[in-house]
Amino acid sequence: MRPLVAGNWKMNGLGADLAELATLKAALAGDPPACDVLVCPPATLIAQAAGQVEGAFAIGAQDCHARASGAFTGDLSAEMLRDAGASAVIVGHSERRQFHGETDADVAGKAAAAWRAGLLAIICIGETSAQRDAGTANHICSGQLDASVPEGATGENTAIAYEPVWAIGTGRTPSDGEIAAMHAHIRACLVRRFGEGARAIRILYGGSVKPQNAAQILGLPDVGGALVGGASLKAKDFHAIIGGVKAQ
Ligand code: 13P
Repeated sequence: MRPLVAGNWKMNGLGADLAELATLKAALAGDPPACDVLVCPPATLIAQAAGQVEGAFAIGAQDCHARASGAFTGDLSAEMLRDAGASAVIVGHSERRQFHGETDADVAGKAAAAWRAGLLAIICIGETSAQRDAGTANHICSGQLDASVPEGATGENTAIAYEPVWAIGTGRTPSDGEIAAMHAHIRACLVRRFGEGARAIRILYGGSVKPQNAAQILGLPDVGGALVGGASLKAKDFHAIIGGVKAQ
């Protein structure tokens, strides 16, 4: 599988910020990436963004509802996101789990909805600092994986994002050894459950990925890409991170 470098704009971005996507498109045209590239702007910008980038890279969403339609005021279905031009959706981000009380079961429902609509589900997991300090990070992450990833995950329909909660927006990252060990643990869990085909599921690292650390992190074993927050908002920084993927 080609690595995937994905940007999560979170609750940032007005129409004027689409200029960053134009800049990124131009930069990638002159310097073709060695990975798949995805930007997940707020849902308000998906249709405009998809129209603007014209397939030069993919546009995704940050969340979806589990149902295709219905009386769920304010929610958006995976089908609606696909209709607007998204080809992927992030589900189970720790900010959704923390601020919206999403459970593993909710996340599994959203991932299944993404598949139903033909979207790539980027399923997020990760431990808190207290859990890491207590030595339970592996246990927490395998529990989240078991309960948040529905039966039927493949490299085509799913990517896993390992995002330690304590590394998000903090400028702190795990050591190279800690990232490699957790990605190996996640890979082993996926292969145990889904068989050898699960080696094709990309495992992204997320949490304070910057131009300065991207190449090093992206070069670690079993790191199949990155999920980038703050540094994806500026085309220059995000392009530099994309450049951290070495051509195979
Ligand atoms: P930062 O890159 O800003 O730490 O955010 C990571 C993240 O949460 C991406 O989903």
